[in-house]
Amino acid sequence: MKMIYFLAISTLALATISCVSAGGGAIEDSSLGLDKTSVYETPSPEPFNYRTSPPGSGEALPSVHAGAPPQIPHSIDAFLPLTSESNQCMACHDKPDLIGQQIKGVPTPMPHSHYTDLRRAPEKVTKKVIGSRFVCTQCHTPQADVPPLVENTSESTGK
Ligand code: HEC
Ligand code: HEC
Repeated sequence: MKMIYFLAISTLALATISCVSAGGGAIEDSSLGLDKTSVYETPSPEPFNYRTSPPGSGEALPSVHAGAPPQIPHSIDAFLPLTSESNQCMACHDKPDLIGQQIKGVPTPMPHSHYTDLRRAPEKVTKKVIGSRFVCTQCHTPQADVPPLVENTSESTGK
């Protein structure tokens, strides 16, 4: 009985070894990552610029996937840093009474989700932005003209 096990295991081991060698060569280190350079090089990505146009002249991009935070279609340099004393994004976007109205050139009101404490009272929409939404740039990034590293094949169900 022991002999049969021994034979079976040796055959399996041999088969594995021949499979590996038949697989052909090692994987090139330059095809491992997204930057397509050798792992021994320090890649320097192409420089890019964020939008410089002020609010009112931008165009919202289609959402990358349902529930994704939309990218900011205008420059934000003048509004940073966001601090507990100063949040200029709120000055334009904190309009709970206008939710649902999108007018070209007018700041898009923050959606109901930003007025809802999803952890403690997910049913209750308030008139006050919830603390976890205060640092807008934690989720929203400004648009930039950058070729995607990987093509997005997700079917957007957003706008
Ligand atoms: C002076 C007013 C103003 C300020 C300040 C401002 N925005 Fe905007 N924002 C706009 C306007 C107007 C639009 C509509 C698009 C356009 O016309 O540029 C917009 C669009 C957006 C959108 C896209 C919404 C959509 O429909 O997809 C996001 C996200 C956004 N802003 C985030 C921010 C963040 C984050 C800040 C702060 C860093 C900020 N905004 C500061 C006026 C402003
Ligand atoms: C924790 C992540 C997060 C933070 C922080 C956050 N947002 Fe958003 N925001 C989202 C997501 C996700 C969406 C889209 C889904 C939704 O409606 O909730 C969104 C949607 C929006 C929209 C588009 C509304 C529409 O009707 O198309 C605006 C404008 C916006 N946010 C502004 C802001 C501003 C201004 C702040 C800071 C005061 C902020 N957000 C903070 C995640 C965030």
